[in-house]
Amino acid sequence: MAVVEEAPYRHIVVNPVAGSLGAEITGVDLSRPEEAVIAEIRRAFLEHHVVFFRDQDLSPEAQMAFGRCFGDLDTHPFVEGTQEHPEVIDIVTEPADGFNFGGGWHTDVTFLDQPDLGSILYAVEVPPYGGDTLFANQHAAYESLSGTMKELLDGLVGLHSAGPQYSAGGYSTRSQAMRTKNAEGADRVVRHPVVRTHPETGRKGLYVNRAFTIGIEGMRPDESAALLGFLFSHATREAFTCRFRWEAGSVAMWDNRSVQHYALYDYRGQRRRMRRITVSGDRPY
Ligand code: SIN
Repeated sequence: MAVVEEAPYRHIVVNPVAGSLGAEITGVDLSRPEEAVIAEIRRAFLEHHVVFFRDQDLSPEAQMAFGRCFGDLDTHPFVEGTQEHPEVIDIVTEPADGFNFGGGWHTDVTFLDQPDLGSILYAVEVPPYGGDTLFANQHAAYESLSGTMKELLDGLVGLHSAGPQYSAGGYSTRSQAMRTKNAEGADRVVRHPVVRTHPETGRKGLYVNRAFTIGIEGMRPDESAALLGFLFSHATREAFTCRFRWEAGSVAMWDNRSVQHYALYDYRGQRRRMRRITVSGDRPY
């Protein structure tokens, strides 16, 4: 198991943006990834859980090449990728949409048996104000719980499904610009530990989210609703968060094994266009 090292960075500059998580990395051109730079970005990613870059000029191909430095790329089961690259999703909010994709706390695709390791989002066009993305550190959320609560949660299994979001009428089916695939299979339920151990750092973290976790195995619906309600609120308390203000050319790369995120919709009547790729992950068990 890799340990997060504390040696100084030699090829990049890493500036934390908040006490709990998040760091801005400067001094790199992501369109020309060099091995030593990638190794340090990976280290900063594990240490800070979400890393940000500014002033990048990334074609879809360059973004994919950067993503492949961290693993294979995934294809979203319910959202169409671009015609040229099924792995690339254009996340577009049109002025008349009245909502945006990802506009609630969630961890990407936890409804899959092997949810994504990470996501890399590139800002193509941003509104003059608003449209920030918020991130919450799920290790910090777990570690702040009482010993008694940790004991209760440690052996529990969460039930996850894409049904609430991707079955007919789900939010992504209402977008003007984004195309959703057939939602067949969206109601399938998968099991993941409520407390997940990060495969690279060994840190434990909460692994439930409001968008896709629909219950806790073995509990009555009212019991799991009460416990999940507490966990959903606790996991996203202000102290565990950071917030990123986008500019065109900004990039965020987050660790889906460590964070939840929230794309804030507070730019009604404006256009926002992002490009997302995801890196495949392992089974959480
Ligand atoms: C997402 O949930 O991946 C979208 C995040 C964003 O658009 O800020």
